[in-house]
Amino acid sequence: MTVNTLSIIKADDWHLHLRDGEALEAVIGHTAKQFARAVVMPNLKPPVTTVALAQAYQSRIEQAMIKAGIPAGSFTPLMTLYLTDNTSPDEIVRAKETGAAVAVKLYPAGATTNSDAGATDLLGRCSTVLETMQRVGLPLLVHGEVTDPSVDVFDREALFIDRVMIPLRKAFPALRVVFEHLTTKDGVDYVRDAEGPVAATLTPQHMLYNRNVIFQGGVRPHYYCLPILKREVHRQALLDAATSDSPRFFLGTDSAPHSKGLKENACGCAGCYTALHAMELYATAFDQAGKLDRLEAFASLRGPDFYGLPRNTETITLQRGSFVIPNELAFGKETIVPLAAGETLGWKFC
Ligand code: DOR
Ligand code: ZN
Repeated sequence: MTVNTLSIIKADDWHLHLRDGEALEAVIGHTAKQFARAVVMPNLKPPVTTVALAQAYQSRIEQAMIKAGIPAGSFTPLMTLYLTDNTSPDEIVRAKETGAAVAVKLYPAGATTNSDAGATDLLGRCSTVLETMQRVGLPLLVHGEVTDPSVDVFDREALFIDRVMIPLRKAFPALRVVFEHLTTKDGVDYVRDAEGPVAATLTPQHMLYNRNVIFQGGVRPHYYCLPILKREVHRQALLDAATSDSPRFFLGTDSAPHSKGLKENACGCAGCYTALHAMELYATAFDQAGKLDRLEAFASLRGPDFYGLPRNTETITLQRGSFVIPNELAFGKETIVPLAAGETLGWKFC
């Protein structure tokens, strides 16, 4: 039987880039409409490395919400700290005690946008911090790609498992770890079978597309993100994981706004903008797999369960119907191009 209306518990986005200033004001309304909470990435310039900076950023998000007319309390930004070689164990304790951050993000130095200040020697210089995180129960969110320039860009996630994840989990077996924006079958197999508290977020683009889409009829920069889209076998593995019974795979859009000019550029930025239509994109992927009945667990239940936060109580409705994705959206003085601009989706968020 075809399902035309889908009502589920309101979802959360466990991996989101909101940026700052005018960009923040332009995008906050999209996420706040679709999600109750979002884990906000700390890769600003300069990065959000301390509790004080996280609190100040959270206030700016709240101000942007007021400016955008978003009802108070309808959306909660969950803040993160950016791990550097100099992060102190005291800062971790403070983050946990104040609730100022729900997690710490590892950007291996040089891996992606604003990662220059990231950790260079995780198991060496950061070991006391990791020990503290393990003790107080603050999760580590990892951008799981090796940065060795000699490694092929399509192999960087798979190699990260051997070079970083396995030694990390061996040294800190009780540390809660989220393998963010997973893109490979290798990653799925690892997360599904690993011992201990490991989970992964999955983006809509990695579930909907393989790497061919980046080159269809020419170079299409709006499909370029990091980790880069992979082969079809990997997309299929991600879709299977998201729609499976495993509690370890949940929603994280990695919506990463960059202006049209910075994407359509000789050296275009990495990131897909999906905050506008995230739930429609995920519903499309789950529908294609014939697994719409699994969307609620993926989008609304497993994330809060992993983070030890209460599940949302409000419900949302998605309806079958044509939704033409706009070609461009306002973005401060510039514009932004959403993922799959100009295409038609078969689901609409009501
Ligand atoms: O595509 C990406 N964009 N991947 C990341 O890891 C960072 C993000 C961004 O901040 O633009
Ligand atoms: Zn991200």
